[in-house]
Amino acid sequence: MDFSPGVLILCSLLCSVAGQAPVVSVEPRTATVRQGETVSFRCQVSGGAPIEWKRANNQALQDNVKLGPGGSVLTVANARPGNQGQYRCTASNSAGRGSATAVLNVKFAPKVRLTPAGPLLVRIGEPVSVECRATGRPRPTLTWKRQGSTLQLFTTDTNDVNTIQWPAVHPEDSGVYICQAENTEGMTEVKIEITVEGGLGAPVASVSTTEMTVVEGHTVTMSCQATGSPTPVITWSKLRAPLPWKHTMVDGVLTLTSVGRQDSGQYICNATNIHGYSEAYTQMEVESPPYATSLPDQARLQPGDALRLQCLAHGSHPIRFEWSRVGRASLPAGAQTTKDGKLLIAHARLSDSGTYKCVATNHIGSSEAVAKVIIKA
Ligand SMILES: *[C@@H]1O[C@H](CO)[C@@H](O)[C@H](O)[C@H]1NC(C)=O
Repeated sequence: MDFSPGVLILCSLLCSVAGQAPVVSVEPRTATVRQGETVSFRCQVSGGAPIEWKRANNQALQDNVKLGPGGSVLTVANARPGNQGQYRCTASNSAGRGSATAVLNVKFAPKVRLTPAGPLLVRIGEPVSVECRATGRPRPTLTWKRQGSTLQLFTTDTNDVNTIQWPAVHPEDSGVYICQAENTEGMTEVKIEITVEGGLGAPVASVSTTEMTVVEGHTVTMSCQATGSPTPVITWSKLRAPLPWKHTMVDGVLTLTSVGRQDSGQYICNATNIHGYSEAYTQMEVESPPYATSLPDQARLQPGDALRLQCLAHGSHPIRFEWSRVGRASLPAGAQTTKDGKLLIAHARLSDSGTYKCVATNHIGSSEAVAKVIIKA
């Protein structure tokens, strides 16, 4: 233990109960006050050893903290948030040291800070986010509002920070936004003005057709116009795929020659100038007539065997199948057909020999496939 000579001399005069460390207590042990109020803590020491008050974090007592008669009463006048914390009262004599701690809570109305502070000038289409941070006791709740509007805003809330954000701002997002923090001690608001630039002169793209259905092998044109100043530059692209190999692009018109089914998809027109960009979409479906085949396309059977033929077709759905027999008015008695293109004769006879034809039809066209069937004993 490290006693200064002064303390030792005092103790030899005052420490009546030699050989016993001081017993220290504080009253009250905790106090909660509002900002601006005054509060006192009294420290009592057995045997009257000298008293020392310190902050528990070892920082100096602040200028609004005063010690009263004999140093036993600590008074915080006009409390402020920074006074919150623990205050330790310590007393020492030759036998040792005793201490007790008082806790002070200072409630205060929220203080709010925005990052960035604003006003904000942003370009159309840019992402924007503003963080609202608040301190206060008890912990304040935070909300964002738009001046003159009750619409729900997109915000994210994490410990004491509430962020308002736009992935891409539009001209109509310009306005005054207010972050409000509230607790039992009061309510604080901070405003920020956000101005979206480029509303005038920003591109607006539009396509002549938003949906189109075309037949395989045809040539397709898609056109896109854009308003804006300076005149926007127009480009075309395809969603999640490169543009078809056989394409040309002239003055906003995209031409695709001899389209195939794989060219179906969404085409995006993008109009760009210094103020931003605008996208418009055309959905194109390429349809194709059926292409039919018979499986098998030749069959050699013995009388009594089962004849099974399957007509297959690719092309746009729905596809209808129809079996017939070349040179005959009808299929043999006992022949069965199914919607999905099967022909079945359970017990083939010699007279069932011949050529069978399947016609596959969809709303664009039709296609034929034939199968030669030979029944021989
Ligand atoms: C449209 O152009 C803008 C600006 O050049 C770009 O950021 C955006 O990704 C483009 N959109 C598409 C679909 O290519």
